[in-house]
Amino acid sequence: MLDLIVIGAGPGGYEAAAHAGSLGKRVALIEKAELGGTCLNVGCIPAKTFLRSSRLFRECKEAASFGVIVDTPSIDMPALLARKENVVGTLKRGVSGLLRNTGVDVLQGTARLIGRNAVEVEGERHEANNILIASGSRPAVPPIPGINSERVLDSTSAFELTEVPERMAIIGGGYIGLEFASFFGEIGTDVTVYEALPRIASGCDGDIADELLKILRRGGIEIHLACTVLRIDGDTLHFVDGSGAKDSDSASYILNATGRAPLVAELGLEEVGVDATSLGIRVDDQGRTNVPNIWACGDVTGKHMLAHAAVREGIVAVNSMFGRPDHMRYDAIPAVIYSHPEVAMVGKTEEELKAAGIAYKKAVVPMNLAGRFLVEHVKETGLVKVLAGAKYGEILGVHAIGDMSSEFIVAAGAMIEAEMTLAQAAEIIFPHPTVAEALRAAILKAQEQPA
Ligand code: NAI
Repeated sequence: MLDLIVIGAGPGGYEAAAHAGSLGKRVALIEKAELGGTCLNVGCIPAKTFLRSSRLFRECKEAASFGVIVDTPSIDMPALLARKENVVGTLKRGVSGLLRNTGVDVLQGTARLIGRNAVEVEGERHEANNILIASGSRPAVPPIPGINSERVLDSTSAFELTEVPERMAIIGGGYIGLEFASFFGEIGTDVTVYEALPRIASGCDGDIADELLKILRRGGIEIHLACTVLRIDGDTLHFVDGSGAKDSDSASYILNATGRAPLVAELGLEEVGVDATSLGIRVDDQGRTNVPNIWACGDVTGKHMLAHAAVREGIVAVNSMFGRPDHMRYDAIPAVIYSHPEVAMVGKTEEELKAAGIAYKKAVVPMNLAGRFLVEHVKETGLVKVLAGAKYGEILGVHAIGDMSSEFIVAAGAMIEAEMTLAQAAEIIFPHPTVAEALRAAILKAQEQPA
């Protein structure tokens, strides 16, 4: 009898397994594909590797503005893919080392629950006092006729192209759609995004999403909002645009980026009585399902489909199952869209504050108030927006657009976690010159706003 069996070796699963191992527990981690899950193999890390190359390509073209002359740069897709494999391989060896050092037993195979304390892996029964399900998610397939055309890619197959496509139609203007739009746009593909909602980046603060829309369009990416994709015929997408006009467009590939669905099927959840729907496994704020000893974390819960949320959820579940007080707090989970420019956010959006009837004050400042931002960029401006309670000035949300915002958003998250007021945050010393000083400028400006 083990102490814990973890199903799924994505960030939620492997970090939880390693944490339990480091507490001296006997742990098995079961994975049917690759260590690292979606994030490491076909998600965050490949995407960021691709985006690093496309940014460099763009910067080479803009290099003369920095006093650097670069002869005609070009993209070498096979080399780009090889670099991605190299980065992924290095990180995977790191995960493997972490699991070895924490004494976690890794089993290759597909796990299925066969009891409250038992799973079957490739015909073998394994038992544990606790089971943590961290099976993740897969690309959702919208009910668009023709979506199974061989010209339609998802976020996994989009990482396998060996040539720069001429035209790319992207269905969905969320995280995946916008990151791929930036990548393909920068490497010279003609990109069009088809978004069903009247705005892109729907979870973001409206001012930031509007700014991103403007910048992407200015960069040559065509974006249709409030648009309905009617059907796909091979390489042709038929749609109704926001004004109600019917149109069609042909592309080298069509990327389906319409969301991800929790992987709840074929886990034996129904047989064991775990409460789950197609939206995910229901858990409390410690990761507990309705069945004693069975826990879940990460994308399979459908709560926050973010790797770093999964990691924290997994650790909370492990602490909770072994009697260490802990619970999830969902108020200050940062999120980043690694589009170019990137968007980083934490806490409440202005729309959420309005909807909840919370009185607030706000400040929005251009990022190029920070000297370092000006040093790093030629044309971009960027924005930082701070939202705080009207009466006490407690920081409620920070939203930014501009490169490097992903690197300072954690500071804003810490301010929210610590329930800091604008006055307290204004006393923090920010290193100079850094882009983060734009956050300080927004905090100071918000302080000056009348309640
Ligand atoms: P998403 O939920 O962010 O965006 C999907 C978009 O597709 C939405 O704007 C939605 O309105 C639109 N849509 C849905 N059906 C449509 C249709 N039939 N026609 C046109 N538009 C349609 O989902 P996405 O981008 O696929 O990402 C999946 C998950 O992966 C997200 O939950 C995200 O949290 C995670 N992710 C996180 C990243 C990060 O942290 N940087 C990067 C990539 C993904």
